[in-house]
Amino acid sequence: VGRLRSRVLSVNKETARFFYEQLNAPTEEAAAARAYWRGRGLSDSTIRRFGLGYAPNDFRALRMHLRAKGFTEEEMLAAGVEKRSEKGNVYDAFRGRVMTPIFDLRGNVIAFGGRVLGNEKPKYINSPETLVYKKSKAMFALSIAKKSTSRRYILCEGYMDVISLHQAGFDTAVAACGTALTAEQVRLLAEYADEVVLCYDSDEAGQKATARSLGLFSESPVKVSVLNIPNAKDPDEFIKKFGRDAFDRLLNGTSNAIEYKIQKVKSKYDITRAADRVEYIKEVIRILADGVSPTERDIYAGRLAEETDVAKAAILNQLDAAVKAG
Ligand code: GTP
Ligand code: MN
Ligand code: MN
Ligand code: MN
Ligand code: MN
Repeated sequence: VGRLRSRVLSVNKETARFFYEQLNAPTEEAAAARAYWRGRGLSDSTIRRFGLGYAPNDFRALRMHLRAKGFTEEEMLAAGVEKRSEKGNVYDAFRGRVMTPIFDLRGNVIAFGGRVLGNEKPKYINSPETLVYKKSKAMFALSIAKKSTSRRYILCEGYMDVISLHQAGFDTAVAACGTALTAEQVRLLAEYADEVVLCYDSDEAGQKATARSLGLFSESPVKVSVLNIPNAKDPDEFIKKFGRDAFDRLLNGTSNAIEYKIQKVKSKYDITRAADRVEYIKEVIRILADGVSPTERDIYAGRLAEETDVAKAAILNQLDAAVKAG
């Protein structure tokens, strides 16, 4: 098993090299792939730093290349870069896609994410789990981010978000690879980060993932905060539209977990109306009654009193009752 594992890592490394070289092949498809990365605003140095590449639209180009390098089909299949059809034919798993390698902390290539150049489905194909790739443990770009002097990490949803952020100078951006965040990934991040800023997509799915991740971080020593992306669907798009300084300003205005939950609730109500105010207060009290320290309760009860123009004592009474009721 130890030997196959190391052969799989070698297959991955050679595959990453192949995809990177294919980006500069003298073909029309390679030109289209280069144009794709350029169209997404990536510089040559970003392409090099992340080892981005292109998988040609061919069922055997990679297999022939790996065979010439002395790898067996068993090793290629074990790495997940080749697949076997029902008829038994072995074929390249990634075809006609721009490729992003995923590295482990030691700099080994452990997997790939491949994206179509257009709008076809599925948009991304990721490597299957293998001897060297466990999705629940991998963290995209952590091998780069860990070199940063900052211990404030930015956790995003997508590879492109991370790559864009790094190019813009935010060198602690990372992402869970194509899965919901796991407790194992939170523990891994805690080794490098003192604070994690959740920076998921602004859509419904991203907001759900934010709420879920806040739960995971509540058990962790890492301080967690939330950055909401205004007027763009994700950090990548935001930086394209508004620039790095605008993103920097967002980073300075993040909210903590309680503030984030309160904001979410508030957006449902029109607190100029008395009936809405009552409901809003009830919901906030439910948030503050659960797992919030007495000091925090006092601070947020004060803010709630001010914004709703209700006596703080009344709010604290209601909060006390809610805490006792459990
Ligand atoms: P771009 O369109 O390239 O900007 O993608 P994105 O980074 O905005 O992707 P999106 O928000 O749709 O998804 C975030 C992440 O989820 C991606 O980086 C992938 O890791 C993963 N993902 C997205 N679409 C697919 C898919 O069709 N299949 C799989 N397996 N993963 C996906
Ligand atoms: Mn070659
Ligand atoms: Mn998304
Ligand atoms: Mn995107
Ligand atoms: Mn996105």
